[in-house]
Amino acid sequence: MKQELLNKYSIPVPRYTSYPPANFFNESFTADLHRNVVVESNKRKPEHISIYIHIPFCYQMCYYCGCNSQLMREKTAIVNYIDALKKEIRMVLPLLDHSRKISQIHYGGGTPTSQPVAVLKEINQMILSEFECIENPEIAIECHPGYMNEQYWLDLIQAGFNRISIGVQDFNEDVLKTSNRKASRMPIEDIVKIIRDNGLSLNMDFIYGLPLQTPESFAETINKAISLKPDRIVTFSYAHVPWVNKLQENLEKTGLPSVETKSRIYETAKGLLLDAGYKTIGLDHFVLSGDELYKALESKSLHRNFQGYCTRRTTGQVYAFGITGISQLASAYSQNTKDLDMYIEQVNKGNLPIAKGYILSEEEQVTREVISELMCNYTVNWEQIAERMNIPVESVKDALNYNELALADFAKDGIIEFDEGHITVLPEAAPFVRNVAASLDKLMLNSEKKYSKSI
Ligand SMILES: C[S@@+](CC[C@H](N)C(=O)[O-])C[C@H]1O[C@@H](n2cnc3c(N)ncnc32)[C@H](O)[C@@H]1O
Ligand code: SF4
Repeated sequence: MKQELLNKYSIPVPRYTSYPPANFFNESFTADLHRNVVVESNKRKPEHISIYIHIPFCYQMCYYCGCNSQLMREKTAIVNYIDALKKEIRMVLPLLDHSRKISQIHYGGGTPTSQPVAVLKEINQMILSEFECIENPEIAIECHPGYMNEQYWLDLIQAGFNRISIGVQDFNEDVLKTSNRKASRMPIEDIVKIIRDNGLSLNMDFIYGLPLQTPESFAETINKAISLKPDRIVTFSYAHVPWVNKLQENLEKTGLPSVETKSRIYETAKGLLLDAGYKTIGLDHFVLSGDELYKALESKSLHRNFQGYCTRRTTGQVYAFGITGISQLASAYSQNTKDLDMYIEQVNKGNLPIAKGYILSEEEQVTREVISELMCNYTVNWEQIAERMNIPVESVKDALNYNELALADFAKDGIIEFDEGHITVLPEAAPFVRNVAASLDKLMLNSEKKYSKSI
């Protein structure tokens, strides 16, 4: 990537894991509103139910962490949390139309594997005993391998999880140590064998842009990952947001790689993954060519929610439980409180623990469709969006900050090609897709909100 393009486009822009981004959610959104939008969601598309369960606790705080996580609490606080979590689920499930099907259950964090498997299994059973599932629903969990012994892995499999995400981050122990992270407790080869012997799907998460990483060191990590053949490899670009997580300042002391080095780390890793037969999904996901995400990308039907990419088969409206959980419904987002004690208190009083949310206007629902299409499939065909939303093409463009001069500038820099009918982000400019999305986003006009840089 040319240095001048990196300078011009490596600027703060939203990650667009949701549209609008979560920092637009506001506190005028109430628990009553949440209840109403949940009931209304029964009549909206996508019709499947996707469940997100948040377990915030971690044994040790990684300095780079950008997740909603906190240090393990004393036992009673954890028991009270899990108790409240189950109560919250019991409050919301009756609001859902029981003829709808579950397509996904996803445990994220924090560290979901900080809990005994029996706890996770009980929560799964609470949900699965009430609803039918689609064929092969995805029951997924994010795992921190630093604290898991063989029995824990076997118990997870026995509890019905069928997609395991291992948070490796880097195989280089010095990189982990400067990030205050514990390496895997068991040899990774042994973990992979257990997962494979039981026929489960396997993801591995990595982060690039951490102190001490170089293109060469990260290449070693990625080569090791390739040799283990996980179905999906995710290379997250490290998001430096010290104003959200002060711990990240520790990494500044060691020194973060420059934008140029970070870009080379990514490009080197990407080259290795493509040579090994992995296909790119979005910016940071690499999957084997038989993976359903790749088939969805080929047929331009890839979707994305806060939990990651999904296909038309597995996509659903997301109902989230636990602190900071974000429900993603057709017409609104709602986010639970971040405060553990308040969460427990509200739920115990029989209140839904909503802290904020966002109702999308019709125009914003159109923008969400366009930005999601761009972020997932790297191309927007105006006719197709218009047809899907049942409105004229002109109304689609009117919903956006559609500015041909700005698009022409992207085209001149080799970022996109476009004409009246479409915009396509060029493959080599994929890291700048967020810049293109932001330029179409009316909410970005005069916005002073803070974001991590695109690279
Ligand atoms: C909730 S964590 C996964 C589960 C478990 N806590 C762990 O660390 O293995 C989700 C993933 O987010 C990614 N992540 C965390 N902080 C990040 C940041 N600041 N920038 C980019 N990715 C980040 C990591 O790759 C991590 O595996
Ligand atoms: S990366 Fe995972 S284990 Fe580390 S602090 Fe964040 S959520 Fe916890």
